[in-house]
Amino acid sequence: MSQHTREAKVYVSRLLPEGAMQLLAKATEISEVRVNPRDRPATRRELREGIEWCDCLLCLLTDRIDAEAMDWGPNLRMIANYAVGYNNIDVEAATLRGIPVTNTPGVLTETAADLAWALIMACSRRVVESDTFLREGKFKGWGPLMYLGHDVHGKTLGIIGFGRIGYAVARRARGFDMRILYNGPRRADERLEKSVGAEYVDRKTLLKQADFVSLHPYLSPESTHLIGERELNHMKCTAYLINTSRGPVVDEQALVKALREGRIAGAGLDVFEDEPRTASGLTKCQNAVLLPHIASATVETRTAMGVLAASNIIDLLRGTRPRTVVNPEVLD
Ligand code: DGY
Repeated sequence: MSQHTREAKVYVSRLLPEGAMQLLAKATEISEVRVNPRDRPATRRELREGIEWCDCLLCLLTDRIDAEAMDWGPNLRMIANYAVGYNNIDVEAATLRGIPVTNTPGVLTETAADLAWALIMACSRRVVESDTFLREGKFKGWGPLMYLGHDVHGKTLGIIGFGRIGYAVARRARGFDMRILYNGPRRADERLEKSVGAEYVDRKTLLKQADFVSLHPYLSPESTHLIGERELNHMKCTAYLINTSRGPVVDEQALVKALREGRIAGAGLDVFEDEPRTASGLTKCQNAVLLPHIASATVETRTAMGVLAASNIIDLLRGTRPRTVVNPEVLD
């Protein structure tokens, strides 16, 4: 572990909730904190200025921290990501440079699972479409065939990626008496499976049988376009695709086609392939509920994420092992 350091400078690439900023401001190991004051992601140039200046970087999933960015910082000794996913950081390059990278797992699990469920409910019960209908003054009275959706209770939920968030989504499904199928790179511990009554199946079986397919894999070359035209064709025409993981997990253009052609009933998306852009035609699909990447967006969770990211930096500066390092080998 590195020694206790005074006078460290921390660059925060976007203003975070107060709890996190206060923690950084109060830490005696930190001499100065600079924050990108703008209400938008830092540009590459702004990021460069911050990295050139700082010892520790607190960055967001909208910041691409590649080898080039790391080499801007002659004193860069830590990268703390304000997200559980860290596909925005070239961890291998950081490891080569001996720079620890941290993320924020655990603190957003339940909140992200809640949002996956919000999408399941919103899609299947056509919440957004019917809200718009009413606001547009089109509601002229109750109708027996008006905004018919599909039941959630008693249906089959297919979870791809059975990590913390996937498991939390499954736990909630028990209250809806659902059958739970899951798939991932490996089978989960039997006790974990039993605790929610989840059944491990191959991906094709899951896609064919599930009424709701909820995606929770970590983004990697293997999970990029995990759901494309072929997989969408396996799904039932009454099924819904929910994605709260990372946009590139789904071939968005293929999804638009499937939604248009009614090959699946709908989709609930919180993430997109090329954020903040969405694939051509997606916003025209009435059978899709589209959210601007807000899975962890609650006051409580965003504060907890910030506190964890800030604590990781402070721990390192104090010579203590940060709690959530993704490349622990650099500290050994
Ligand atoms: C994460 O932490 O990876 C989420 O996408 C942030 O909302």
